[in-house]
Order: sequence, then C-alpha cells, then structure tokens
Amino acid sequence: MSDPRSIGVFDSGVGGLTVLREIVRRSPAESTIYLGDNLRAPYGVRSDDEVRAFSIESLDELAARDVKAIVVACNTSTAVALGDFRRRYDLPILGVVRPGAVTASLTTRNRRVGVIATPATVRSHAYFNAIKDENPAVEVYEHATPALVPLVEAGELSGSVAEAAVADALAPLLGERDAVGESIFPRPPGATIDTLLLGCTHYPLLRAIIEAQVGERIAIVDSATATASALAELLDINGLEAERTAAAVHRQLTTGDAGTFHDLAGRLFGSAFPEVEAVELAVGAR
Ligand code: DGL
Repeated sequence: MSDPRSIGVFDSGVGGLTVLREIVRRSPAESTIYLGDNLRAPYGVRSDDEVRAFSIESLDELAARDVKAIVVACNTSTAVALGDFRRRYDLPILGVVRPGAVTASLTTRNRRVGVIATPATVRSHAYFNAIKDENPAVEVYEHATPALVPLVEAGELSGSVAEAAVADALAPLLGERDAVGESIFPRPPGATIDTLLLGCTHYPLLRAIIEAQVGERIAIVDSATATASALAELLDINGLEAERTAAAVHRQLTTGDAGTFHDLAGRLFGSAFPEVEAVELAVGAR
C-alpha cells in the first residue's frame, strides 16, 4: 500500500525548515507542503490562547490541502496545543518536543540537560515533563531565550550582534551568572550541564555560534533528526509511505511576504529552494 499525498509541515516562520530538511533527507520520495505563519511570528512571546488559535488556523489550511500527516515543526505550538490538534484532525499529527526529549535523555551522561526555548515553551514545561518521562533521574534546566527567534527571522545568523545575543542567552545555563527572571529552574551551584537541547526549531540555524560558545564539553542536540525518523516510522506503520520511486514535490507557503521568505530560505538552504507562495489564512473560524 502507498499514499502519494503530501506531508504538511508547519512552523510560525522559517525555523521549521530545519525539520523539513531532515524529513527530505530521511524520506526523499515524500512530497511536502510547508507553511510558515511569518506574518504572526514570533509565537513564543504570545499567550497560549493566541498560539493555539494561530496554529489551528495554519493547520486548518494544511488539512484543507489533503495532506496525509502533519508535522508541527514548532516547539511552541507543540508544547502549548498538541493535544488540541490531535483532537481536531483525523490525521496523524507529530510534534517535535518528544523526539527532542528522547534524544537529549539518551545523550546526557551526567544526567543534567539544559533546554533553551521560547518563553511559551518554557512556561508549559513540556520539555521538563517529556525528559522526566524518559528518565526521571535527569535534571532539566529550562531557560527562555526570546531574543533568538527575531534574529533568525531577520536572517542574522552570524556576526557580532548574533554572537552577543547568543552569549547573553546561554550565560545562565553555562554558569557565567546566576539564572534569574525567566529561568524557571535555576542552575544549582556546581551542577554543569553536559547536554544542551535546542528546544526551538529556529535555533539550529544559529548552531555554529552556539557550538563555538558552549565548547566541546557540551553536546548540542535538537529535534530535527529524531522527528524525521519518527515520521518515517509513522508513515510505515500507517501504510502511508509514497512509492519509493516517486518524484517528490515540495511546496512552500507563507502568510508573510513570499519574496522575503524565499530570500531567507535560499540563504539558509541554498539556491535550489523552490518558489514560495503567499497564502491568506481563514482567520477566526474554529
Ligand atoms: N520555531 C518555533 C519553535 O520551535 C517558534 C518560534 C517563535 O515563533 O517564537 O518554538
């Protein structure tokens, strides 16, 4: 049995392209429709109600295009509303929190994991709970880093501004200063993380800077590869795989400016990036 329909992939903006890239690598015969709600990004500094409503409007758009499964390639949406999505659609819906949590809990050796994510994701404690589900002995230090998504959406992936923002974001987890304010689980004295989980799909785009700053003693993990593997398994189990020889088609949709999205995505993913279509979502229909 095979199914030629596309896989829907959703994020608030360009961050989910880091997950899409792994899906295309892992499942090259699968067609995809990517939707970025760039007009309303960032989601991570919004209320839970807004994140839920905007995400549902976006997922309704993908569901209306007859996708066979949806990957919510946005930690914020996953953390706030994955259960709501699963109740709403008669489709397999995969989030990115659990795959990332499993990867982190299998990577740490000293059982101390730092998580950087948006304020909404940290507020939900979705990563704390998912990592504890995997291994209750792991100490999880969640830290909100709201400055990073606007950097990525603006295409600032290198240079002194991005380096300073990343240094500031990581300092509480690396111990240069005490965690204050938005850090929910401050780092106790003497506890050093050995694994840093990038709990936002935008952050792998800053990976080079993050790697340079954390050094070799801390492993950096994200959800993208594990999510792509989980999707491949889901398609297999549900008999939803495309023919192995199928020629995949990839469509990119944005609620923002198509030209800006295309330029940014092209810078991130190379010049072969497909055309981008602008879409207007049906707003307010629940
Ligand atoms: N890339 C998303 C995430 O993984 C959302 C970032 C945002 O819009 O704030 O959380």
